[in-house]
Amino acid sequence: MADQATYALELRDLRKSFGKTEIIRGANLAVRPGERVAVIGPNGAGKSTLFNLVSGRFAPTSGEVLLHGARIDGKQPFEINRMGLSRSFQITNIFPKLSVFENLRCGVLWSLGYRYAFWRFLSRLQDANDRATQLMEMIKLDKKRDTLAMNLTYAEQRALEIGITIAGGASVILLDEPTAGMSKSETTRFIFLIKEVTQGRTLLTVEHDMGVVFGLADKIAVVVYGEVIAFDTPENVRANPRVQEAYLGSVIAAQQAGGH
Ligand SMILES: Nc1ncnc2c1ncn2[C@@H]1O[C@H](COP(=O)(O)OP(=O)(O)OP(=O)(O)O)[C@@H](O)[C@H]1O
Ligand SMILES: [Mg+2]
Repeated sequence: MADQATYALELRDLRKSFGKTEIIRGANLAVRPGERVAVIGPNGAGKSTLFNLVSGRFAPTSGEVLLHGARIDGKQPFEINRMGLSRSFQITNIFPKLSVFENLRCGVLWSLGYRYAFWRFLSRLQDANDRATQLMEMIKLDKKRDTLAMNLTYAEQRALEIGITIAGGASVILLDEPTAGMSKSETTRFIFLIKEVTQGRTLLTVEHDMGVVFGLADKIAVVVYGEVIAFDTPENVRANPRVQEAYLGSVIAAQQAGGH
């Protein structure tokens, strides 16, 4: 058996039911450290639910989730976050009435934890300021330092969200449709930014645009009807008949026809 800790993230026969309906039906996945994984699949397949199970928003009905070999299923989101996993949401998750800098600093302070006594907290404030400044440069918003988040463009808000997501230095990052609602050119720039800021980290990103998927991912996980039906390199996934049949064939045809 392979050493568990060789995987940054592992799902083992994961299941989740809402009421009587089983939404996640025995999902398995093993992602190595530093891999960039695009999670694709039809609407309603369970991609966001999988992320909710991994990040601790929902507890699985059965099965296991391991982060660097340690069980995290059933733990609270903040505990999982402190163990090195961070996620963004399909919906923007920033404080609209705080500035770019303040939003990032909140992200950093959150990751340092409220468990510190006030005097220790203060001694860390300078670190938090430095880290927030560094993040602001990484996401290329240093010229908008004092702009309120609500006054940023949509693409800038998404960049800020990525900044908040990586603020705590998490080693595993989950992004749920980070380019949703962006134009083609914004998307291209944004993917470049994501690649840059997640350098050396493990990334799982839900994405519908196949151009983005094939440009960004080392590996693709195909989720259909609550199962991971394929997990492989883009070339192999594209050539996989099961994937063609279940999902990719129709999506590629639609995108080539100018749809979606
Ligand atoms: N909290 C919940 N309670 C009940 N059903 C839910 C809940 N969350 C998700 N579902 C159901 O689970 C299924 C999978 O939803 P999910 O949001 O995970 O799909 P998805 O793959 O992310 O889809 P999309 O591509 O549209 O974002 C859907 O049928 C949805 O209605
Ligand atoms: Mg979703």
